[in-house]
Amino acid sequence: MEGSLIRELDDFRKKLANEREVPSKILDVLEALPKSTHPIDALKVGVAALGSFDPDLPGIWGQHIHKKKEANLRIAIRILSKMPTIVAYFHRIREGKDIVHPRKDLTHAANFLYMMWEREPKNIEAKLMDLALILHADHGLNASTFACLVTASTLSDLYSAVVTGISTLKGPLHGGANEQALKMLMEIGSPDAVREYIKQKLERKERITGFGHRVYKAYDPRARILKKYARMLAKETGQEDLFNTAVEVERVMIEILGTKGVFPNVDFYSGQVYYMLGMPMDIFTPIFAISRASGWIGHVLEYWEDNVLIRPRALYIGPTGERYVSLDKR
Ligand code: ACO
Repeated sequence: MEGSLIRELDDFRKKLANEREVPSKILDVLEALPKSTHPIDALKVGVAALGSFDPDLPGIWGQHIHKKKEANLRIAIRILSKMPTIVAYFHRIREGKDIVHPRKDLTHAANFLYMMWEREPKNIEAKLMDLALILHADHGLNASTFACLVTASTLSDLYSAVVTGISTLKGPLHGGANEQALKMLMEIGSPDAVREYIKQKLERKERITGFGHRVYKAYDPRARILKKYARMLAKETGQEDLFNTAVEVERVMIEILGTKGVFPNVDFYSGQVYYMLGMPMDIFTPIFAISRASGWIGHVLEYWEDNVLIRPRALYIGPTGERYVSLDKR
């Protein structure tokens, strides 16, 4: 890498590391939530609340917010850096454990695991988390990124755009699929039960989570990479049954729906990797959000360089020429 790029990366890493802690009042907000709150909702609340504490926001909010590049970059760093802290803090609060403050000497991925687990991750654990964060960082105009752009295009702020992104990612047709896919594998239980399970689900016209993609009509390349690590972790953690069940689901699904372009997507194997790393299932989608926030913010900052309000029109196809009937005559 060129010297200037190395310096830029180093500077970026330092800035991220310096912004990891959240204001103490954010802890009060997280503590006020019911412990049953899904962590993706806690993240949404945490990021929304964080906006109120940002020193740059009051000064730039308004008509020209999209032109305040320097302030928006500082805000971007704060959001990216503090999102893992919010997820880890809420997780420990709901478990009744003391929070673990972030450390500046660890990488973005290693620090997140450290705050979750209260121990430094092994090199391989940190590498795998890093890999997962890289694979999920950006993916064009997926539903959540598009939703962020809609919010940002009104000249709302970055915090609001990211809250929109988290809310949109949450759904099981998008980032929520990683949690649902693992639940499905557990429900199936063993490779022998796969064919009947899939058959019945498809007969009921239900979707198989972790398969299909609006853009990829072939094997999602991210899934291919994650599958390799899921296999490795399965061996190490004695979860071969889970992995073999997944491989059988993949085989049966491709046999039945491959001709329609339905293949495993990123969410099918990512959940297995997180699970075998020891993550609770409901933390999978927040991990996706921690990573994808970089894509959301990158797209918003680029869009703001030449901002146009996103406002589609709908084509009405119902009856026309209807007459108003007063309430007492209906
Ligand atoms: N299970 C069963 N059948 C499926 C699936 C699936 N997961 N995905 C697509 N199909 C079928 C559809 O029923 C359709 O069949 P038809 O032509 O007989 O009606 C055909 O494949 C084409 O599907 P579309 O609906 O056109 O695909 P679309 O692009 O609209 O949907 C989507 C993409 C929403 C992701 C879909 O594949 C799905 O629901 N997948 C399951 C949820 C999931 O895993 N989401 C995560 C996606 S990755 C991500 O967001 C990070």
